[in-house]
Amino acid sequence: MRAELALQVAALLAGAHAQELYIPTTGYTARPQCTQPPSTPTYRFEAFSFTQNETVRHAIPVPSPTTTRTYGPGYSEASSLLGTSLSTTTWGSWVPENTFISATDTDDPYGQAAWSSLWVSASLANYTSLGLYTTTVSPAPVPSSSLVLPPRDYFGPTDCYEFPDDFLFGVAGSAAQIEGAIALEGRAPTLLEKLIRDDRPKNYITNENYYLYKQDLQRLAAMGVKYYSFSIPWSRILPFTVPGSPINEQGIAHYNDLIDYALSLGMVPVVTMIHFDTPLYFLRDSNTSAVPDIGYNNGGYWHPEFVDAFVHYGKILFTHFADRVPVWTTFNEPLLYAFNFTGIDNVVKAHAQLYHYYHDVLNGTGKIGFKLNDNFGVPKNSENKTEVDAANRFNEMQLGGFGNPLCLGEQYPQSLLDTLPGATPLSEEELALVGNTTDFFGIDPYTATVISIPGEGIESCAAQNLSANALYPYCVTQEQTNIYGWDIGYRSETYVYITPTYLRSYLSYLWNTWRKPVLIGEFGFPVHAESERDLPDQLFDSPRSQYYLSYLSETLKAIWEDGVHVAGAFAWSFADNWEFGDYAQQFGIQVVNRTTQERFYKKSFFDMVDFVGARKGLGHEH
Ligand SMILES: *[C@@H]1O[C@H](CO)[C@@H](O)[C@H](O)[C@H]1NC(C)=O
Ligand SMILES: *[C@@H]1O[C@H](CO)[C@@H](O)[C@H](O)[C@H]1NC(C)=O
Ligand SMILES: *[C@@H]1O[C@H](CO)[C@@H](O)[C@H](O)[C@H]1NC(C)=O
Ligand SMILES: *[C@@H]1O[C@H](CO)[C@@H](O)[C@H](O)[C@H]1NC(C)=O
Ligand SMILES: *[C@@H]1O[C@H](CO)[C@@H](O)[C@H](O)[C@H]1NC(C)=O
Ligand SMILES: *[C@@H]1O[C@H](CO)[C@@H](O)[C@H](O)[C@H]1NC(C)=O
Ligand SMILES: *[C@@H]1O[C@H](CO)[C@@H](O)[C@H](O)[C@H]1NC(C)=O
Ligand SMILES: *[C@@H]1O[C@H](CO)[C@@H](O)[C@H](O)[C@H]1NC(C)=O
Ligand SMILES: *[C@@H]1O[C@H](CO)[C@@H](O)[C@H](O)[C@H]1NC(C)=O
Repeated sequence: MRAELALQVAALLAGAHAQELYIPTTGYTARPQCTQPPSTPTYRFEAFSFTQNETVRHAIPVPSPTTTRTYGPGYSEASSLLGTSLSTTTWGSWVPENTFISATDTDDPYGQAAWSSLWVSASLANYTSLGLYTTTVSPAPVPSSSLVLPPRDYFGPTDCYEFPDDFLFGVAGSAAQIEGAIALEGRAPTLLEKLIRDDRPKNYITNENYYLYKQDLQRLAAMGVKYYSFSIPWSRILPFTVPGSPINEQGIAHYNDLIDYALSLGMVPVVTMIHFDTPLYFLRDSNTSAVPDIGYNNGGYWHPEFVDAFVHYGKILFTHFADRVPVWTTFNEPLLYAFNFTGIDNVVKAHAQLYHYYHDVLNGTGKIGFKLNDNFGVPKNSENKTEVDAANRFNEMQLGGFGNPLCLGEQYPQSLLDTLPGATPLSEEELALVGNTTDFFGIDPYTATVISIPGEGIESCAAQNLSANALYPYCVTQEQTNIYGWDIGYRSETYVYITPTYLRSYLSYLWNTWRKPVLIGEFGFPVHAESERDLPDQLFDSPRSQYYLSYLSETLKAIWEDGVHVAGAFAWSFADNWEFGDYAQQFGIQVVNRTTQERFYKKSFFDMVDFVGARKGLGHEH
């Protein structure tokens, strides 16, 4: 009932807070809160002493768990539902300096020799060095001296809102960006190892979280963070990718241990099934330099075997972990790997099958959804109808391919069907199967982008292709300035501008368009040139605090003033990591020393947790 009411209110308000409405006004900024008449200062002499007081507080850890909750059947029951018998095995590690193929099981398509040859044929450039660790590190308690809160920024939020009881506040990371150990304990190659630049051999190591996960989790728990979002690499669970191939016992043991350790600390695991780490299997015959017609990369999602193989992999994850994991994300930002219409269509079908399996076969009581990319397109001038249409096209093409069918049971957007070569509508039967198969609408709303119409017009651009026209397929002009030439917000290292008021409109747009609870799957900010600064200056990251506190303030307004159901928010990333080719774009709320693997909390981490905790959003203040 509350939801329906909120929906109506939100629909009424939706038009009212378009932020790019330009309202001319005169004079200086009003200060309605200041009612005292101006008076004359009284100057005087007095004895001087230092009277500045700094409050000293320590972070409050997550309380130890008192109860155990389950969200689905345990392994023995779940495995009997699969209908196929599961075989497990181990393969060991591929270390070029001291490994050569001595295995004699060359007749076994899934044997030791076959596994080694996956790495030989992946032929990674400069894969020579291992990290510091070759076994799981026992965590040391976080010293209380590193948990002292930093000085506050002078300006800060003054609102009185609180987070709803069931709000999921957490931090996120992804396997390929933090784990390292890429060829150890049975993992097989993925697309991402091929993206590593030749001159960066250490990129294969990243944060060594594969061995340091206990320490990483303990550091998060010490800060009071309850929800931990991580991804599992398909190639660690099923090195040979396909249904019928054996499960990697060491991979399962690793994530069982990670999940159990998180739970033992009072934390809650949140799992993403694929985060850009497509098994190389799907790209072995593919021309990866071919130009995509949507998204940026050939991520293999178009492959004819992809749907069945992904669904099988997802079921394997459920079978092993669904008893303890309450929140599942099937795909991370799938559009970026869609490549063409077939990729989108495959993602929709695979996701829907896993939703049905989770809720209808396993009777899982947690939540399952997806998370999408789209830097919110806002019209340059919201009074210009053609610019509003262009912004709608821009957002719809990135979100509607998934949102229309999976949330609403509606057809792919006409813009996709008209623009992408070979796009075909879903049949009535397909729509019935995929419709309404998500518990939340995940979004990574890093920033906003200003949309207008290119000189050539949308139609002529849409009739071309990406090699002929760089604006294809969205066919809109994107800028980061308003009509007076000002940036729309403070700029980071990269494409991220601090645009909190647009976040509020965005949340309203998503909720009112796709009518599912909105989960902010990632949000974060790489401070410009942070990695070039000395450690103490990296840690005092005020622009990132400004980003997080303003975004969370606007999220609270969306919830309480606009009636938008925001289910949670996950800060990206819980530590600086490998950003697909470099370490300079630091999105982290902890610094990582690349030589020692030591972690250091940044100020923004404390500021954000304090903001959320003060508003009862950490899930343990009630
Ligand atoms: C600092 O704390 C002391 C002791 O509580 C108090 O007397 C003093 O007024 C405080 N100074 C300021 C500037 O708040
Ligand atoms: C990495 O290997 C490439 C050849 O694949 C070579 O040109 C380059 O110098 C190597 N870089 C380092 C840092 O070893
Ligand atoms: C791969 O695609 C690129 C771009 O379309 C093309 O130039 C190249 O010839 C293709 N290579 C092969 C082996 O087909
Ligand atoms: C799931 O629920 C259905 C319908 O209530 C029931 O038939 C089925 O046995 C349940 N499955 C499991 C694994 O509990
Ligand atoms: C998408 O690309 C794949 C690989 O090139 C191709 O097999 C498939 O037909 C394409 N789909 C469409 C709709 O063009
Ligand atoms: C979608 O599914 C949910 C969960 O089963 C259900 O509560 C809701 O009524 C459904 N909505 C529509 C529009 O079918
Ligand atoms: C609307 O915007 C387009 C460009 O994005 C421009 O060509 C057109 O003149 C604008 N219309 C009005 C009424 O300002
Ligand atoms: C894309 O456009 C270019 C330039 O007009 C053309 O040469 C090429 O054949 C087009 N490719 C496809 C796949 O339509
Ligand atoms: C990493 O730690 C080592 C050892 O403490 C130190 O010498 C080095 O300066 C640190 N690196 C950075 C970038 O801070």
